[in-house]
This record gives sequence, structure tokens and C-alpha cells, in this order.
Amino acid sequence: MSIDARTGPAPSPTGPLSQIDYSERIPNNVNLNGDRRLQRALEGWQPKFLDWWRQLGPSLPTKDVYLRTAVAVGRDGWAHFEHVPMEEYRWGIFLAEADPDRVISFGKHRGEPAWQEVPGEHRADLMRLIVVQGDTEPASVEQQRVLGSTAPSIYDMRNLFQVNVEEGRHLWAMVYLLHAYFGREGRDEAEQLLKRNSGDLDSPRILGAFNEATTDWLQFFMFTYFTDRDGKFQLGTLKESAFDPLARTCEFMLKEEAHHMFVGTTGVQRTVERTAEVMKENGGAAAFEQGVIPLTVIQKYLNFQFSVSMDLFGSERSTNAGNYYSSGLKGRWMETRRKDDHELLEDTREMSFVEDGKIATTTVPMLSALNLDLRDEYVADCANGVRRWNQALEDAGLEERLLLPHEGFNRKVGVYAGQPVSPEGEVLDAETHAARIDSWLPSEQDRKAVADLMVPQYELGKFASWIAPPSSGINDQPVEFDYVHLAEEGLA
Ligand SMILES: [Fe+2]
Ligand SMILES: [Fe+2]
Repeated sequence: MSIDARTGPAPSPTGPLSQIDYSERIPNNVNLNGDRRLQRALEGWQPKFLDWWRQLGPSLPTKDVYLRTAVAVGRDGWAHFEHVPMEEYRWGIFLAEADPDRVISFGKHRGEPAWQEVPGEHRADLMRLIVVQGDTEPASVEQQRVLGSTAPSIYDMRNLFQVNVEEGRHLWAMVYLLHAYFGREGRDEAEQLLKRNSGDLDSPRILGAFNEATTDWLQFFMFTYFTDRDGKFQLGTLKESAFDPLARTCEFMLKEEAHHMFVGTTGVQRTVERTAEVMKENGGAAAFEQGVIPLTVIQKYLNFQFSVSMDLFGSERSTNAGNYYSSGLKGRWMETRRKDDHELLEDTREMSFVEDGKIATTTVPMLSALNLDLRDEYVADCANGVRRWNQALEDAGLEERLLLPHEGFNRKVGVYAGQPVSPEGEVLDAETHAARIDSWLPSEQDRKAVADLMVPQYELGKFASWIAPPSSGINDQPVEFDYVHLAEEGLA
């Protein structure tokens, strides 16, 4: 492959490290060549990763896919696009550019130089944070592995595979840190990241939401919208970390993550657009029989994916989160833009919870409520997409709207766990709640009806009945571009 020769941009003024070395077996911008031991260890892990990819990566046989690869980590021109066989994708190690003057921006070490090595006292906590983040990356690939065979278009299939290879690369990002900074234990954890598998009864993935299979494309779009967005916010807190290599890794991952958000936002939007079109023709609700997903079912999928993603933020009150903050391991979303003392020792905030059948609020120390702080930022971000989808309904002249459910709806973690809260935020009695649950969450029947619509559409430029075409293609290519070439057996 000739990435450098063909499209490598001029060397960035910030130095050669922003360029990625593709002549190595493991592409990287961390001068892996200069550390033979580390290089050998990672080269030992590489074939295990490829085995994992072959076994649990996308199941649809393809010849090649129009994928983007990182060329440089600087601001402009970082991506290169070409058709590549997926197993030859150049997974590598890319860190955002180093700032030699970077100082810690929060917690008790505020103002001190960022750490280039792991301080002994924080070793266990940092490793745990990296392992939990690392575990989600391959998990989503496993969850989505069968979706290629029901892709609503070749365009969408390409986007799925792009997300998949990049989640694979995010695993590389975490494995690099484990190998480079956590010695033998880190290497063991890196092995475990390939041994735990999504939904495996004996060794499941660490977080609950990553053990549910993604069964259909509407769920995939909701997943990339709501669950990848959880990832975006977690990466946002780690990007502030005092441990500089972690911060720089996450900063670059966030750039890749933007595409995953795009796939979710536009995927749901195009689904809504198509449904709205049929609703308009009908002068009322649209039905599965008309080849689209009824708006009520889209709402149920939204309710489900939002609520399970909310659980990923953990308990509203968490001493761990406060300790991670004070010791500099994990900051807040947009830490440096916050206008406070960045230590939070005296600060408080309001927290909602259920008391005597009503939603009440109480004042809690800010340091103990950082999971909630992050979750609130996440909810605000989620609301943007819902507004956008509602705009599509409005543009179609329809009255119906989608709704982001109340934070207390369908929760299994934190103060709302098991509380009978409706999507509108009403606390019901348990019986009423149970009786209505099928009108709020996808029932077996809903999922089956959606699954029945998921017939593949492999003809270039054509789209399945339930989804509108995108307004433009990828990387300025036309919508009908041959983004994926299927293998002969994939066409059977
Ligand atoms: Fe990721
Ligand atoms: Fe992602």
C-alpha cells in the first residue's frame, strides 16, 4: 500500500510525529521502531487480533471496501480513502500531537506537568479505566457482525464496516497503552480483551449494554447515535487525563468517533424521513405493510437505546468518580472551558431521584456527582439529534414528534434503578408501569416486524424500502459509488 507516496500531506509544522509511518508492520506515530521490546510484544499480539477479526468481525464475505485510513493526526487532511480488503486494513497506533508544555488542568495536581509515565499510586485505577474503555471497542464489532447481510444499501454497508474497522483500531489504541505502560499485567489484560466476547456466557464483555446483539439496522443506527455517543463522552473525560499518552490517544479517537456519530444521526434521520413520506401520503400513521417502520416503533427503539446507554454512565453518586477527578485520572467534559476552580472541593449541585412516588431533588457534593455531570452533558447532546429528526417530521408537514425519554425511564443503574418512571417522567405505580411497558419499549413482535423489513439491497445506488437515500456520498463520491465489492460467496 502506498499511502505516504500518494496522499501524504506536507509535513506538519508541529513535527514529524504527526505523520504516520506506514512502512512498519504496525503503522504508528509513536516511534515504535525505537523500542524493540515493545514492538516485538505488539507484533506478537497482532496475529491474535487478526484471528479475532476473522472469527468475530463482519461475517459477510467481501472483496474490498472503500475505507478511510489515518494518514496524519494533524488538523487537516488526516484521512486517506481507498478500496481495501478489510483484513488488510492498516490498524495502527495513532496519538494526537504532543504538547511538551501540557499541564494538568484539574484536581489536586492542577498546574503540574502532565505525566509521561504512570505514577505507581494510580497504576491500578488507570489500568482499570483503560481496560473498561478497551473492552467496549471490540464488543461493538462483535455485536454488529451479522448486519452486513441485511444492509439497506452498499453505501450503508460501507459505513458499517468503517465503524467496525475503527472500533478495531480503538482496541489497538488501548492495547498500545497496556503494553507500553503496564508491563506484564498490561500484556495479560490485552490478551483478555480478545478472550472476553460480547454475549459469551462464560466470559462476557464488562459492561451490560455491550452484551446485547445488534439485531437490525434501526438498532445499529440507534446504537451509533446513543451508545457510541456514550463512548464519545467517556473519551472526552479521558482526553483531559493527567496521563498524557492516554489523553493524546483519546483525542485522536474522538476524531474517528465523529464519523460514528454521523452514521447514527443520519441513519435515524433517513429512517424517519422515509416513514414521514409515507405518513404524508397516508394522511396518518405509516405501517410495516407499507415497507416502512412506524414512527411509534422508531420511538420505542429510541427509548430503549437511550435508557441502556444512560446506564453506562454508572451511579449518579460515585466516590470513585470523585477520586479519579481529584487525582487527575479523568476530567470533566470540556474541562478547560469550565469556569470554576477545577478542584470542586466546596461545590454542590442538584440531583433528582424518586421519593414517595414523586421526582424530588436533593443537593449533593459536586465531586461525588461527576458521573451525573457527564451524563447531563450527554443528554443535552442527545437532544440535538432528536431536534434534527423532529425537523424532518416538521418539514414533511406532520404534527407527530419524537421525544427523548426522561432520565429515569427504564433504568437499571443508579437512583432510578427499577423505578416505574414513564418516558414522560411520570412516576407510576408498578402495575400501571408494567402494563404499559410494551407501548414504550420494542416488543418481540416489533423487533420481528423490523427484522422482516431488513432485506438486503446490494444494487448500487438503491436503498431498502424503509430508508431514504443520503443527501450525498462518502468523500465526495456519488451515492451510487461502488463502496463495497462483495466476495462471490457473499452474493449467494
Ligand atoms: Fe470506539
Ligand atoms: Fe465508535
